[in-house]
Amino acid sequence: MADPAISQTTEDILARYRAEALKGGGEKRIEDQHRKGKLTARERLELLLDEGSFEEFDMFVRHRSTDFGLEKQRPLGDGVVTGCGRINGRFVYVFSQDFTVFGGSLSETHAEKIIKVMEMAMRNGAPIIGLNDSGGARIQEGVVSLGGYADIFLLNTLASGVVPQISAVLGPCAGGAVYSPAITDFVFMVEGTSYMFVTGPNVVKTVTHEDVTSEALGGADTHAQKSGVAHFALPSELECLNGVRTLLSYLPQNNREKAPCSTSDDEPTRICTALQSIIPDSPNKPYDMHVVIESIADKASFFEVHRDFATNIIVGFARLDGEAVGIVANQPLSMAGVLDIDSSTKGARFVRFCDAFNIPLVVFEDVPGFLPGTDQEWRGIIRHGAKLLYAFAEATVPKVTVITRKAYGGAYDVMNSKHIRGDMNYAWPTAEIAVMGPKGAVEIIFKKEIEEARVVGGRVEGADPGALAHAREEELTNEYRTRFANPYIAAERGFVDDVIEPQETRIRLIRALKMLATKQDTNPWKKHGNIPL
Ligand code: HXC
Repeated sequence: MADPAISQTTEDILARYRAEALKGGGEKRIEDQHRKGKLTARERLELLLDEGSFEEFDMFVRHRSTDFGLEKQRPLGDGVVTGCGRINGRFVYVFSQDFTVFGGSLSETHAEKIIKVMEMAMRNGAPIIGLNDSGGARIQEGVVSLGGYADIFLLNTLASGVVPQISAVLGPCAGGAVYSPAITDFVFMVEGTSYMFVTGPNVVKTVTHEDVTSEALGGADTHAQKSGVAHFALPSELECLNGVRTLLSYLPQNNREKAPCSTSDDEPTRICTALQSIIPDSPNKPYDMHVVIESIADKASFFEVHRDFATNIIVGFARLDGEAVGIVANQPLSMAGVLDIDSSTKGARFVRFCDAFNIPLVVFEDVPGFLPGTDQEWRGIIRHGAKLLYAFAEATVPKVTVITRKAYGGAYDVMNSKHIRGDMNYAWPTAEIAVMGPKGAVEIIFKKEIEEARVVGGRVEGADPGALAHAREEELTNEYRTRFANPYIAAERGFVDDVIEPQETRIRLIRALKMLATKQDTNPWKKHGNIPL
């Protein structure tokens, strides 16, 4: 029988160890953290995970450094809390950096803890969520810490497309450290308290003489609106962590599973009457594609990704009769829905995510083409536009397109056309499928006729040659529109499978996706493709 005195002692040691680990960097540093408007690593996990579901690993890990007096400071856990928990009942692996311990800086052992949960996530086929709040490489450890980062980057890369990887940046994330979140699938940031940059304001000042604050250089709004590094910028940590939970509800656990189906109380046969009149009479007048998406998707199910970046394309998750889908849609309200560099890369990355994780794609198309101009050409719209084309072409998940209005030029091909393996391609009666818009087309192919009208007008006394040329141009434009700017020539060829009433779009999409649920398609064997980067 165990000696009660000894077992009492061992229990005491365990309790003391646990208590020590739980207090992180101590009361004062926790207060500092709260004063900055930030939660602690453990408070964050409590909000993120289902109540009582957290199973911690490596609570007793300590660093092995002996330089700069570190041998005298060996806190338990070494600045990162790691383990497994559940979100809406499903397993996830997590790490949460503890800024109160050496500023959450990454040591060799801190990295080992993160790597352990990443490997477990991959082996067990569950998402990995990183809550980042760190001063970067543990300065006292030098290259050992850099090695730890590289080990994490490698695993981020190996896990890419295997399990969903989500980063929440909840404090500083600077230098090379930014490249771990950058490789993950989705980056969340919090307004006012988180920032990411490769070099901070001081280095920027020295090198480029620019005066810039941390917030302007790499705050949440900067990355959510300008750089596109962040997919979500939320006003508080609570909203951010809730956002992570919501996002996960649309995703499968890994690349071999399907996303979970939720029960929907929205009728699959619901008619969307409002859509019958959503397309304006004038082809140059915009309308809000959000209204189209939200009318068609299950009620309140649309969860937009990258909402504030490249707003000329909309991407996000939604549900159709409870099944998760990835939506990609041109937005006529923003730059007429034109495709440019940012919208192409935004769309391409989203399409590739959905394809990697078996989420069917639904495309709403109203695109006047690619954005002209030296800025776009010199910065490589050819290379970047090709990403979106490549992403749609290689995707083997069920792919359905609805052309609501314009499908012009190369953009017609790119936006999940039938030619690049769109499974079901629908057009509304208002669709205009052509090489270019009627006006541009007429200016090119009827240049002589228009000029002739001007010359003839010049010979007639009292006539206004300009007005006559304009009238002729209008006439030819209308002829062109009637002949080409409609869905029926494409339908005649089978390039669209059906022309459908806008109000029936929800019904038809749900039906199409059910029909495609058993789709099997593959690409030729390759080590990997070479998407134009
Ligand atoms: C060790 C660090 C640390 C680090 C912060 N601390 N960063 N300890 N290594 N990298 C410690 C501080 O000494 C302090 O300890 C505590 O964390 C809190 O730091 P403060 O400076 O008091 O906090 P704050 O004022 O909020 O400033 C946060 C900060 C600043 C902006 C992150 O600490 C900072 O600039 N740190 C250095 C950042 C940096 O240069 N990191 C290396 C970047 S290079 P005490 O004991 O006082 O609480 C890099 C490369 C990665 O990361 C490459 C990967 C390939």
